[in-house]
Amino acid sequence: MRNEFLVYGSPAIENPEIEEVVAVMQSGWLGTGPKVARFERDFAKYKGIEHTVALNSCTAALHLSILGAGIGAGDEVITTPLTFCATINAIIHAGATPVLADIDPITMNIAPNEVKAKITSRTKAILPVHFAGRPCDMDSLCRIADNYKLKIIEDCAHAIETEYHGRKAGTLGDFGCFSFYVTKNVVTGEGGMVITKSEEDAARIKVLGLHGMSKDAWKRFGDEGYKHYQVVECGYKYNMMDLQAAIGIHQLQRVETYWHRRQEIWHRYNEAFAVLPITLPAPVELNTRHAYHLYTILIDEQRCGISRDGFLEAMTAQNIGIGVHYLSIPEHSYYQKTFGWQPEDYPHAMRIGRQTVSLPLSAKLSDDDVDDVIDATKKILKTDQQHQV
Ligand SMILES: Cc1ncc(COP(=O)(O)O)c(C=O)c1O
Repeated sequence: MRNEFLVYGSPAIENPEIEEVVAVMQSGWLGTGPKVARFERDFAKYKGIEHTVALNSCTAALHLSILGAGIGAGDEVITTPLTFCATINAIIHAGATPVLADIDPITMNIAPNEVKAKITSRTKAILPVHFAGRPCDMDSLCRIADNYKLKIIEDCAHAIETEYHGRKAGTLGDFGCFSFYVTKNVVTGEGGMVITKSEEDAARIKVLGLHGMSKDAWKRFGDEGYKHYQVVECGYKYNMMDLQAAIGIHQLQRVETYWHRRQEIWHRYNEAFAVLPITLPAPVELNTRHAYHLYTILIDEQRCGISRDGFLEAMTAQNIGIGVHYLSIPEHSYYQKTFGWQPEDYPHAMRIGRQTVSLPLSAKLSDDDVDDVIDATKKILKTDQQHQV
């Protein structure tokens, strides 16, 4: 057993970002400034698009995208029950009502036929999450959106590198929202980004992200002299800091190197676990690119002789940190009380939420770390199988 606890999702932080953060500290310009502007440009280049707005989280990106889409009180937004609570909360913060459509049990992404069944006269948008980095069935979702005149807001928190039929995640809908939280594929500590199809949408989100102050208000203390600004609407304090962007600029330069490393680990897990009585992630679909953000296995107690929660405890006892993505949204008391949702109404998300475990998958993992994860997983599952016999 390994000596040190392997922290789940611990990011790879290297010298260039450490030096850039120090340089920002020494410059005295810690808040939104030239580093944020550069990070926005670099991200736009990576995505092959024009309009980006850096914010302090993906939650903020989702909230402002929903507002930017003109959605508010009385409107419904259809999304997945297998997601982080932020996806749902952003819809609620915008004053709209979240509506859940169950997932496809193989891809774990929102099922287009379920989306269609949930459309009402109040539906204004579909909010797909590219779960674990696997792209959603965007052809079908875009067709539905076209037919019913709905906006698409992509939750790309797991999907920086994801591609679908030659197009990059976040560019298929009207808005794409990204996360740079510590466990994500590119990190800034906390941080997010919106990419938009239209320049107007990006401009509005930029204003909404900094109190509703007119464009370029962040420059008001710069060397061009004090600039007056107008508050043009009641916005939010969602801007990214230069301190965060300083990390992101260098992380983004390594996005492909890190992707290759996670792909390597993914294949090692696939090979090592093929003999175990667990469900592995579905193969990557043709003509798509998976971002390899989460490696999720399903622990079915009947087949494995150990419950999912028993497996979590056993891995922790082996000094391996693991994650759960996610208990389905209707398992949480707030949503049950507020919307009357019950897990059984979304059976695929419920089952997967109760069986799923995310194994460590970060570019920081050494080959020895990966061996430790494999050994611990095999030991726990084999031991319990033997108990069963
Ligand atoms: C699917 C999904 N959506 C949204 C978010 C929110 O991202 P952030 O923490 O940057 O607000 C996360 C973060 O974990 C996520 O996994």
